[in-house]
Amino acid sequence: MFFDELIERRGTHSAKWDKMEEFAGVSPDDGIPMWVADMDFRPPQGVIDAVKSYAEHGVFGYFGNDSDYLDAIRWWARERHGWTITDEDEAIFSTHGLVNGAALAMHSWTQPGDGIILFTPVYHAFHRVITAGGREVVQFGLVEKAGRYVMDFDAYEGQMTGREKMILFCSPHNPGGRVWSVEEQRALAAFAEKHDLIVVSDEIHCDIVLPGHKHVPFSVAAPEAAHRTVMMTASTKTFNLAGMHTGNVIVEDPKLRATFAATVAGLGLSPNAFGKHMVPAAYSPEGAAWVDALCAYVAGNCEVFDKGIAEIPGLRSMKLEGTYLAWVDFAGTGMERDEVMQRIAGEAKIAVNQGPAFGHGGESWNRFNLATPRARVEEAVERLQKAFKDLQ
Ligand SMILES: Cc1ncc(COP(=O)(O)O)c(C=O)c1O
Repeated sequence: MFFDELIERRGTHSAKWDKMEEFAGVSPDDGIPMWVADMDFRPPQGVIDAVKSYAEHGVFGYFGNDSDYLDAIRWWARERHGWTITDEDEAIFSTHGLVNGAALAMHSWTQPGDGIILFTPVYHAFHRVITAGGREVVQFGLVEKAGRYVMDFDAYEGQMTGREKMILFCSPHNPGGRVWSVEEQRALAAFAEKHDLIVVSDEIHCDIVLPGHKHVPFSVAAPEAAHRTVMMTASTKTFNLAGMHTGNVIVEDPKLRATFAATVAGLGLSPNAFGKHMVPAAYSPEGAAWVDALCAYVAGNCEVFDKGIAEIPGLRSMKLEGTYLAWVDFAGTGMERDEVMQRIAGEAKIAVNQGPAFGHGGESWNRFNLATPRARVEEAVERLQKAFKDLQ
């Protein structure tokens, strides 16, 4: 099976493998990296062929004529997500990935000192970018209901100070893996309307959705919010192309678009040719079949992982609806974080992302990346069961 292949990534400048000792104190010699959100899989062959063909041409001048690139983004949005993006080419901006996209949005529509709302716990880089940009992170806590995160707009009303200008929405949600319903997204749109907030919807995980769930883009779920909506998508998470750093910020509203275009122009941003060659190969019928197989494989990994975690008293993993990022609560062990980490990193030799980095609500949790061959997930489960053996 394609996804079962154990590919040697050590010594390839892989952040996940080659920086894990520095990050988590786990040696790549015998450690299992389950932190950085990239996958230990090759992309579809068509993507590799597109890069090879460009590389073999051997002349790497400025890129021009991105019509097939833009068509591919539109085709994918329509085919996979029922979203017809405007045919105005200027609406689709290529950014240096979506952390960059979020930062550009922040600089376009907020000022230093303004508040940017995050539903926490959420992707750690959002906190970093907002703080580094001199804005304030406003943490709206997600609430656990029937074992999954939900938003609580009644509670959020009481947190508003008037300084908030933007919501940075993560859909599907990282961590916790919620695939937000249409109703939830419409409630978010109504809240944004009431408080005059721009909604930046980061949908980088939109394609990795587990059986029984369906991702609906924010712009499809809540068209009434079009005048305050900024969409962000990418092929990078879906196809494991993160190193090419090419993301899409899609601004359909002309007034918002003019502001964003000014930010991009002011910073002199221009596209990466490798990314522009890869995207049309990824967003293709071959890519679609590959993603379907990937989602089934991730679902299988999830099953193995969740079953193993459920056998350790005191541990529980949130049921994922989307993403390949398992979110595990260690509160039931009654242990301090240092001891939990000594067991995970020290004994089991697994590098994870620690929950507190994701903000309020992440204190007792850790995130495990399951986008790796099944054998490695099985090995990780065995190691965790051994490291927490005394609880069994
Ligand atoms: C929600 C979210 N946005 C953005 C990113 C990273 O985006 P990029 O690599 O395009 O900067 C990640 C990576 O895990 C993510 O989870």
